Amino acid sequence: MRSGRPAAEMSGAGGPGAPRIQAPEALPEEDLDRSLRPRRLEDFVGQEALKDQLAVSIAAAGSRGEALDHVLLAGPPGLGKTSLAQILAAELDVPFVQTAGPALERKGDVAAFLTALEPRAVFFVDEIHRLPRALEETFYPAMEDGCLPITVGQGAGARVVTIDLPPFTLIGATTRTGLLTTPLRDRFGIQHRLEHYGAHDLARIVRRSARLLDVAIEDEGAVAIAARSRGTPRVANRLLKRVRDYAEVRGAGVVTGPVAADALDLLQVDHEGLDRLDREILRVICEKFGGGPVGLSTLAVAVGEEQDTIEDVYEPYLLQRGLIERTPRGRAATRRAYEHLGLDPPGPLALL
Ligand SMILES: Nc1ncnc2c1ncn2[C@@H]1O[C@H](COP(=O)(O)OP(=O)(O)O)[C@@H](O)[C@H]1O
Ligand SMILES: [Mg+2]
Repeated sequence: MRSGRPAAEMSGAGGPGAPRIQAPEALPEEDLDRSLRPRRLEDFVGQEALKDQLAVSIAAAGSRGEALDHVLLAGPPGLGKTSLAQILAAELDVPFVQTAGPALERKGDVAAFLTALEPRAVFFVDEIHRLPRALEETFYPAMEDGCLPITVGQGAGARVVTIDLPPFTLIGATTRTGLLTTPLRDRFGIQHRLEHYGAHDLARIVRRSARLLDVAIEDEGAVAIAARSRGTPRVANRLLKRVRDYAEVRGAGVVTGPVAADALDLLQVDHEGLDRLDREILRVICEKFGGGPVGLSTLAVAVGEEQDTIEDVYEPYLLQRGLIERTPRGRAATRRAYEHLGLDPPGPLALL
């Protein structure tokens, strides 16, 4: 099972000159995301400190009649970055314009977006870490001074014309803050990192989604799904949908605790929320590489998955669960990983 692959993140790049980069197989999940997306800050479950801070920023910008400061949202896929960006536009009552880093190829692409913005609009750039380096500099004056210097003409006759831009809010989303250059990062006045959700918040999200999807669910069913959603709302929603199918076919249509547990077993999601590939990663480190450390690219080849997907989606959760550790020489399995797989750990000194 592949969850929240980067390809599924590059949606809605509908602006001028934006190439179609949507992978077709990613569409159903995108549809699910869209239909279950919280619309207002009060619908956004959890992340209380973040919501409080944003509410203050929104109110302050509103009362001054100014555009909200530029916002950088970081964190693994499926934790609510796109949702929050849309919510910010809704709460500010301004238009929402969306693109993605890889969709911006030339300076002209950026200029086309920026010059077409309505005053105070939100301009959302998903996967901003994948913005071509050369284009980052185009954003600096736009973010700082609200202007865009453009070179007109060529050779000796070339001159620079500066276009004034409407005030706007750039919201950047990234799965990897580490890949942003410091000058770009520093130009975001508001920066937040979304963390994995606790079981309680995930159960609330599952119950909310069940209501929206018209799924009959008992509390134990919501809790069972939440516990195995690897801390990620998008995964919780996807599992809910699969469990509902199971409940309709094998049960009485109601997602009870036992029905959810059976369905998740069938989906090969284990009690710790690990899916087949999670376990494969652990098994490869433990069995093929003697517990590691093993480099990410070697690991990616060994499990047959893209390096980016492992780094963005799988690794953060395995790290968070204490199943692997990052060392300067690569990823290493912890004692818990061996226990989880039911393997005998090597001697105590060999382990981290
Ligand atoms: N805090 C939240 N409350 C309720 N639902 C959420 C929350 N965060 C994410 N979701 C659900 O998860 C889905 C994926 O969220 P999204 O904003 O697309 O994540 P990201 O952009 O970080 O990958 C959304 O469609 C929404 O249904
Ligand atoms: Mg997103």
